[in-house]
Amino acid sequence: MSLIYRRKANEPSLTHFLYDYYGEIAPFVKRIDRKWLIPPLVALKTIEWSIYRWYRTPIRRFYGVKGNELIFMITRRCNDRCPKCGIWEHPEPVSQHMPVAHFLNCLNRLHENLYQVTLTGGEPFTYAEDVILIAREARKLNVPMVVVTNGVLITESVLRVYHELRHILVISVDTMDKDRWRLFRGRNHFDLVMNNIRLARAILGKSLRIQSVLARESEADIPAVKAYCEAHDISHNVQPYMDFGGHWNSAGKVQAANFACAARKNICIYPNGDVVKCFDHHRIPLAKEPLGNIAKEDIITILCKKRATEVSKIMKTCNFPCKQLACNIPTVTYNP
Ligand SMILES: C[S@@+](CC[C@H](N)C(=O)[O-])C[C@H]1O[C@@H](n2cnc3c(N)ncnc32)[C@H](O)[C@@H]1O
Ligand code: SF4
Ligand code: SF4
Repeated sequence: MSLIYRRKANEPSLTHFLYDYYGEIAPFVKRIDRKWLIPPLVALKTIEWSIYRWYRTPIRRFYGVKGNELIFMITRRCNDRCPKCGIWEHPEPVSQHMPVAHFLNCLNRLHENLYQVTLTGGEPFTYAEDVILIAREARKLNVPMVVVTNGVLITESVLRVYHELRHILVISVDTMDKDRWRLFRGRNHFDLVMNNIRLARAILGKSLRIQSVLARESEADIPAVKAYCEAHDISHNVQPYMDFGGHWNSAGKVQAANFACAARKNICIYPNGDVVKCFDHHRIPLAKEPLGNIAKEDIITILCKKRATEVSKIMKTCNFPCKQLACNIPTVTYNP
């Protein structure tokens, strides 16, 4: 017998609890619009956190009501050829486009757990009809939606419907220089996208946002994008360059931030319906294989698998630079 108390290697420490609590509460606080509601809501959230901390139901990975973000890469197909991004290089064949009904079903099953549904790609508006169907369903279920787009395919009629549904549109812009635009996007459509941005600002108002990627190639251009946004009262955010299979370079060493990665709250769906917990899952050995496929299985069944719980647990302390992507840092994205 030893008098030395041995802590098991996998036994959680006090720092682990604090880290877990902070990782839970910090993103929650960021989503509260009205500051005076912070103390009572944090108290309620703390009670909820304590229950789910100790009460191990298979569904505890759903961090309470409206705690998750559902992110759908609706397609890998894209009309642009950005060198920063390699997604367009591997488009799914048109014949393999998943019927939108599977995603609508998934949204219906999960809506009570969702604070937001996000559509990304490829270019989401390649499937504009599906985008609008999802936007309508999300509104019916009272789930705020964000679509991230290159801004090329949006039309006045789509924008008007989108505005009625009160969702948020993010347009990607990395330069205000027409010549460099062609280099950055592989296409010569600066004027078209800038017209679409003006139209979107006029129709959507503050529900239009602009996002830029900070890389060595774009860092000199971003101040002009920021200035444009300020001049037109458009909210602007910058996310660091990551490896999306593209050919740009980081602007500097991306420091892994000192907070738990919020991606563990994400439920991510690939164009073929495969489900993962974050689009960088290939970095986590246990998460390399998808957890299931929404065209074949119910999403709740998929998320209740033991491996899903294990992956969520690993993600709590996962520390890759991808935790700094905008989609992995929940912020207030919606004001009803
Ligand atoms: C992959 S795109 C898909 C949506 C749409 N095609 C667009 O460009 O907005 C989603 C967001 O990721 C950004 N992005 C693309 N390549 C990136 C990279 N290598 N690192 C970080 N963000 C990137 C885009 O600028 C865009 O804001
Ligand atoms: S960043 Fe967006 S617009 Fe550019 S190639 Fe990738 S998916 Fe297409
Ligand atoms: S740090 Fe990257 S790989 Fe790890 S959970 Fe976050 S997004 Fe996924």
